[in-house]
Amino acid sequence: MMAETQSLEQFKGQARLPKFAVPKRYDLFLKPDLDACKFTGTVEITVDVVGDTRFLVLNAADLTVGNESIWFKGHGSSEKLFPTKITTVEIDELLVLLFSDVLPHGEGSLWIEFDGILNDRMKGFCRSAYKHNGENKNMAVTQFEPADARRCFPCWDEPAFKAAFKIILEVPSDHVALSNMPVTKEEVNGNVKKLFYQESPIMSTYLVAVVVGLFDFVEVSTTDGINVRVYCQVGKSNQGKFALDVAVKTLDLYKEYFAVPYPLPKLDMIAIPDFAAGAMENYGLVTYRETVLLYDERHSAAANKQSVATVVGHELAHMWFGNLVTMEWWTHLWLNEGFATWVSYLAADSLFPEWKIWTQFLDDTVSGLRLDALAESHPIEVDINHANEIDEIFDAISYLKGASLIRMLQCFLGVECFQKSLASYVKRYAFSNAKTEDLWDVLEEGSGEPVKMLMNSWTKQKGYPVVHVTLRDEKLELEQSHFLASGSAGAGEWIVPITLCCGSYATTKKFLLETKLELINVSQLFDSSVTNTGEKAGFFWIKLNVDQTGFYRVKYNGELETGIKYAIENNKLSATDRFGILDDSFALCMASKQNLSSLLSLMTAYRQEPEHTVISHLISVSYKVVSMIADASPEFSDGIKQFVIRLLQHSAERLGWDPKEGESHLDAKLRGEVLSALARFGHSATLDEALKRFDAFLNDRDTSLLPPDTRYAAYVAVMRGVDKTNKYGYDSLLKIYRETDLSQQEQTRILRCLASSPDPDIVSEALNFVLSSEVRNQDAVYGIAGISREGREVAWKWLKEKWEYISKTWTGFLITRFVSNIVSPFSSDEKADEIEEFFASRVTPAISRNLKQSLERVRINANWVRSIRNEDSLDAVIKELAQKY
Ligand code: BES
Ligand code: ZN
Repeated sequence: MMAETQSLEQFKGQARLPKFAVPKRYDLFLKPDLDACKFTGTVEITVDVVGDTRFLVLNAADLTVGNESIWFKGHGSSEKLFPTKITTVEIDELLVLLFSDVLPHGEGSLWIEFDGILNDRMKGFCRSAYKHNGENKNMAVTQFEPADARRCFPCWDEPAFKAAFKIILEVPSDHVALSNMPVTKEEVNGNVKKLFYQESPIMSTYLVAVVVGLFDFVEVSTTDGINVRVYCQVGKSNQGKFALDVAVKTLDLYKEYFAVPYPLPKLDMIAIPDFAAGAMENYGLVTYRETVLLYDERHSAAANKQSVATVVGHELAHMWFGNLVTMEWWTHLWLNEGFATWVSYLAADSLFPEWKIWTQFLDDTVSGLRLDALAESHPIEVDINHANEIDEIFDAISYLKGASLIRMLQCFLGVECFQKSLASYVKRYAFSNAKTEDLWDVLEEGSGEPVKMLMNSWTKQKGYPVVHVTLRDEKLELEQSHFLASGSAGAGEWIVPITLCCGSYATTKKFLLETKLELINVSQLFDSSVTNTGEKAGFFWIKLNVDQTGFYRVKYNGELETGIKYAIENNKLSATDRFGILDDSFALCMASKQNLSSLLSLMTAYRQEPEHTVISHLISVSYKVVSMIADASPEFSDGIKQFVIRLLQHSAERLGWDPKEGESHLDAKLRGEVLSALARFGHSATLDEALKRFDAFLNDRDTSLLPPDTRYAAYVAVMRGVDKTNKYGYDSLLKIYRETDLSQQEQTRILRCLASSPDPDIVSEALNFVLSSEVRNQDAVYGIAGISREGREVAWKWLKEKWEYISKTWTGFLITRFVSNIVSPFSSDEKADEIEEFFASRVTPAISRNLKQSLERVRINANWVRSIRNEDSLDAVIKELAQKY
């Protein structure tokens, strides 16, 4: 574009900023006023003008910029050029500066003065409230990802515009002020001080960070001399020690794995009391919700401990994957999030092998599979045409399908080859940006395999296949089709990395299924399986997707289905395979591709199941089955509950209520899950014991009466109000909530239960409480997570009534939770229509995809309910199962 033909209109409504001028360095000064919740700032941006232009076009939003306070000095000149016209394009969050002449090529300098508000929306430059010595205080915190640096200072706010940052802060002299880099100079002047930070290496704007407040910290240095600190509210520093230890070990591990050292001189991690996401990987200054950074002996459960370790592992993985090598555009967000998720499991596995974290990884894979089975899913690589579309793709597709595909590819290419190629990728693109295909190229070079062709079929189209396996004489027929939870036929086709074993794990076959249908000669495998196991033909079994490392489902036909159940019952299969078979069967059943009786009959094969993650999945499957039956045929409800209670009996007896000396992390974690399931299914002995323990705990808060791992189960039980007035549970939990301001983990635990009462009036009261000033906006998501079946209608009515307020108060992914949690549990087409009608005039880009997905879920539930009603002799089957098992 020639400078003469440029016009303002051309810059509007574009996905990306023009590239005729690119930032190289920001000298940023910020002065927050924590009492007035305002800030002022200046920025001097070194800009390289590389094309002919009279315009400079950058991002700014919610900032006031004065007319006289902007000027540009062209390359090699000290003359200040003032723009002849300054335009802010609100909808596109642009600041457009027009100069009277074409700007000289080369590096010039752009000066802008601005001010803004420390907002309470948890994005941009915001405030977070805390108590210090009983006094209410505000801290100032930044949260810039994906596109909110522009709310703090004018900038080229896209990941590919990497630049160096030199930051200066002016803050109260008794406060701690942190940024990405260490302080090099401090000037104290009475009540205020000026802190000068070292210049950063080049990085993207979304990773810039500042935190100002009163904090304590704990610290350790790595073997390379990198100072690592965990900051938290004054008085809580002991709770930072676990995360600190994990961080130091993880940094060492990643340095080895990526074969590149951590590139900054320090790493700070800090707990922020009001925080929209779970954690944020700002370069050198990672911010966290308190619940995923702090570990408190009295209130933290094994599950909390595990979250701290995996979240720290995830954020630190970004220091390489994301911060050092950054996605070129948000279309490639999954490179950041999918990788960080996957890498965090590598770290957890190395630090805590007893957690069997790769088995637990299947929970993530399943969440990816669930979302991606919707027609309203999206491809991993998704077009982003406006900043307001970015928030919605921080979802299970980018994170969990992403992580699962990486695992699938790693297993296909081999662990060593994969690591070496990743290390070359990081080296090649360090301090730069990369696209998905750049990664495939490096992996293709490293492995000699057709990685790009294989992976394009997984990242450029949505969905995944179900592979139908049938035995035809001595051959195995494999046929793939696009799996949709609605049961409809999708149009996708994939290149599927198949693994299969037959009769034993000793011989595994591995190949690519490249067409819709293939016949495989497996007679060789049969022979070896019979000799290996010494078993008679007729009891052979074949397992596809060995260890569940592939992102697809399998449907076994005919005798293969019988064989698989036999293999589970006779302990032939690994925990991961047992998990996979259960989940595939569940998904096929939901899609009406299999009847409920056969799923229930398969579930009986798990009654002696020893493995934490498999039992935990059996519980999730049971929740859904119980709830669908309650909608389809309530007369079977009691029977099905008896059945699932009996399935859990074995584990319940083994684990009991009290922690055993020296027991494993997984037993501690499982105890809570099993007991809360029994409480939810109404198991009377569990309810009685829970209430007894709860009463004692309520009186003196002695945590040994109700250790953190079983506390949630007791809270679930007490909310059912058995033997007490309905309100007893709610009122007592609220009392604990109000008296527990020292632990957000404990408060979260309570919030997750408050709306689980079977009494709709209490649900209604709980939901209103969630909107009160006693619940931080960040925590509302928990309050609406555990709504009881009986409270569904009340919750929907509440959402409609409060929608105006809710949609003003919550944005981004937080608002989507209100929609999905309240809408998805319904199971009738009429309800879906009603919800659709309500939102017709209210839908915004921020919720649009999520709403469609939630409505699709309701219609899928409705389908399932219909098939259950139509299923022959389900009555007899449930009766038999309830008695027999
Ligand atoms: N980069 C994200 C944080 C983020 C999420 C920023 C959404 C902006 C929008 C961070 O690395 C992350 O993924 N956090 C997770 C926790 C993680 C362990 C799964 C989160 O916030 O849930
Ligand atoms: Zn992340």
